[in-house]
Amino acid sequence: MDDIPTAGMPSGSVFVAGARGLVGSALVRELVTNGFHVVGLVRHRDGVSFLEQLGAHPVLGDLAVPGDWENALTDVESVVDATQARLAGRLTVSRAIQMAEARRQMTRTLLDAIQRKAPSLRRYVALSGLEDYESTGDTWFDESTPLAARPKGFAHIGLRVLPLLREAREKWGLPLVLLRMGLIYGSSGWFPGFVERIRTGKGVLVGSGRNYSSLVAAVDVAQAIRLSLERTRPGSEYIVADDEPVVQEEWVRYLASICGVAPPRRRVPVWLASLAVGRVNAETFSSSKRPRNRRMKEELGVTLRHPTVRDGFPRFLPAPA
Ligand SMILES: NC(=O)c1ccc[n+]([C@@H]2O[C@H](COP(=O)([O-])OP(=O)(O)OC[C@H]3O[C@@H](n4cnc5c(N)ncnc54)[C@H](OP(=O)(O)O)[C@@H]3O)[C@@H](O)[C@H]2O)c1
Repeated sequence: MDDIPTAGMPSGSVFVAGARGLVGSALVRELVTNGFHVVGLVRHRDGVSFLEQLGAHPVLGDLAVPGDWENALTDVESVVDATQARLAGRLTVSRAIQMAEARRQMTRTLLDAIQRKAPSLRRYVALSGLEDYESTGDTWFDESTPLAARPKGFAHIGLRVLPLLREAREKWGLPLVLLRMGLIYGSSGWFPGFVERIRTGKGVLVGSGRNYSSLVAAVDVAQAIRLSLERTRPGSEYIVADDEPVVQEEWVRYLASICGVAPPRRRVPVWLASLAVGRVNAETFSSSKRPRNRRMKEELGVTLRHPTVRDGFPRFLPAPA
């Protein structure tokens, strides 16, 4: 399935799984605007009209279960898996392992369907997080940095799905491109609820508050995914991040300032935050991630619409509840 990258040309039809999610919906908009034909997989009827309004072709189905949705793969040139399994409640390590198993099941079903229905697929884009990398403190890292030997935070999911993707690449040539992002903000997902907590004085700093967070706007992730369909070689991996990793305390203070409220001062130890939101969320939020985004810019040609949180946060600030 490997072929030479083509620069700048829309690559036909793209199947987006998770088309109603934070990343998926931004991606559908990005692809439609740039002339792609988009087939979006959604689980519920409200997703159908949502996709039709965006100019995409909706397909109803559940990735965990083989079904008629697989027929929509027949004519597509590329697949993007923007799904995330969800479990209600605190994200403890054991629940993350359950989520990883659900993700593995969904990935297996999708890969089986691709082998049967789309054997000449050009690209398969998978998404994971920066937690996959072995990196801490103030040290900058990039795609050459080793992956974590012992998973923490969301790597409990990402690193458990990865072997399945690598095996498909090695055994039957899945044209895999892997993108890893930090905290993705936009008008849905974790960001609106986080802003609400800051506005209502319930915000806290997790751990020392001195860790670097890497944030990136969902619209910029969408651009990176589109460019990865056009300009990458199968087998490549990219960090997708904004230009300026920023210390937790600083970005939270900035967010409070644009909300017009006092910044949270209370520091909650990671173990205590884990009791409230689960260890996986607490570890992800308090871990230090300082990635370089050079490869994303030089090879993919991403031009960030929101290079820093100072550009992006005001744009996606939800109206007060
Ligand atoms: N958000 C972040 O900060 C972040 C950071 C790094 C990496 N990522 C990665 O980015 C990807 C997308 O994340 P996201 O934040 O956009 O997630 P999201 O907003 O929770 O969206 C996930 C989507 O997956 C769909 N889905 C879940 N189970 C499905 C199934 N069995 N069949 C079909 N669709 C299913 C959901 O459908 P419903 O709408 O029906 O529930 C939802 O639309 C994930 O791989 C995640 O690991 C996210």
